[in-house]
Amino acid sequence: MLMAILREYPAYGRLPVDVERTEGTELVLRDGRRVLDLYGGHCVSAMGGSDPELGLVLADQWSKASFLSNLFEHAPRAAFLEAFGALLPDGEWRVFLSNSGSEANENALKLALAATKRTKVLCFTGAFHGRTAGAAAISDMSFDAFPRTPFDVVRVPWGDLAAARAACDAEVGAIALEPIQSIAGMRVPTPGFLEGLRALADERGAALLFDEVQTASGRTGAPFAAQTYGVLPDLITTAKGAAAGLPVGITVARAGLVEGLPGHLLGSTFGGGPTILAMAAAVARRVGDEAFLANVRASGEALASEARRGPVREVRGAGLLLGLVLDDRISGKAARDALLARGVLVGTSDDPQVLRLFPALTLTPAEARRFGDAFATL
Ligand SMILES: Cc1ncc(COP(=O)(O)O)c(C=O)c1O
Repeated sequence: MLMAILREYPAYGRLPVDVERTEGTELVLRDGRRVLDLYGGHCVSAMGGSDPELGLVLADQWSKASFLSNLFEHAPRAAFLEAFGALLPDGEWRVFLSNSGSEANENALKLALAATKRTKVLCFTGAFHGRTAGAAAISDMSFDAFPRTPFDVVRVPWGDLAAARAACDAEVGAIALEPIQSIAGMRVPTPGFLEGLRALADERGAALLFDEVQTASGRTGAPFAAQTYGVLPDLITTAKGAAAGLPVGITVARAGLVEGLPGHLLGSTFGGGPTILAMAAAVARRVGDEAFLANVRASGEALASEARRGPVREVRGAGLLLGLVLDDRISGKAARDALLARGVLVGTSDDPQVLRLFPALTLTPAEARRFGDAFATL
């Protein structure tokens, strides 16, 4: 008899822990052990695991209206526009809602190229923007997913303003970057780099796109990294923590940039549904609370200072988005495995000597100490 056999496509390896449940900043294992989670589900669990208040938001919205298509106005959309809008830098913005970071970038690139009527995107070595065709085209991936890019791409070294200036010709419609390159090894912008790109975009008539898929939602100690660094882009994308574990993609564009573009350029079946937006509104309200952001900054500093007790050469990043550059005594992967055995989960990066930390933004300075105690024994 024939029968179907289903296994997962082997996109990911698995960690050797059996998680029964998530509880705030901890993973509770089936054998009762508790792991301090400084990896936050790929930087998604901004409010920690199974937050009770968000659980109520979810259950409440589901019971009222689980899903409504984009053909309807609904209260969670209005609540989201108000709460998320309050986080944005001053100015008039337009937002489009989709389902992931890749999609948010895909839509931002489409808007930028349509608005400028150009065909090329300037991007950077080490970048990661996602796996859909446009997002992958501007990512620096050795595992190229598609045989061709959907638009022209020019890639220059991260941090090299002179190279960016030389490459930014009259066909470049967008300059796209992560304000902090996370996957590459938490590479922060050198002083003047973001400002220089802003000036370059203005000079050449290109749109400046900040991929804030990781850096938004209060992660760097301000709602967006644009505010942390004081540089205003024309487009901001985000996803990850924005609905604290439900899939969302958010593309924000300066109103003046997209004025006059046809609405039908963008679309999404799931994007903008009421359950997701009720969650995203609740997250945005929390991120808008100055005490919440102050905790991100304080816990980030505590974590950075605890990290200096271990085999570390440099700590970089902002807020609760940190990269630990390890000294030669231990590799990132060996450190990750040893920390997990000691009950602390951290992430690796494309740089074999860099560990990444992006815990729940509710992490306390006291919990940072628990990391330091484990890290100091490596
Ligand atoms: C900076 C950045 N942009 C885009 C993406 C893609 O997001 P998604 O996996 O939700 O499509 C990621 C994912 O890791 C990311 O880190």
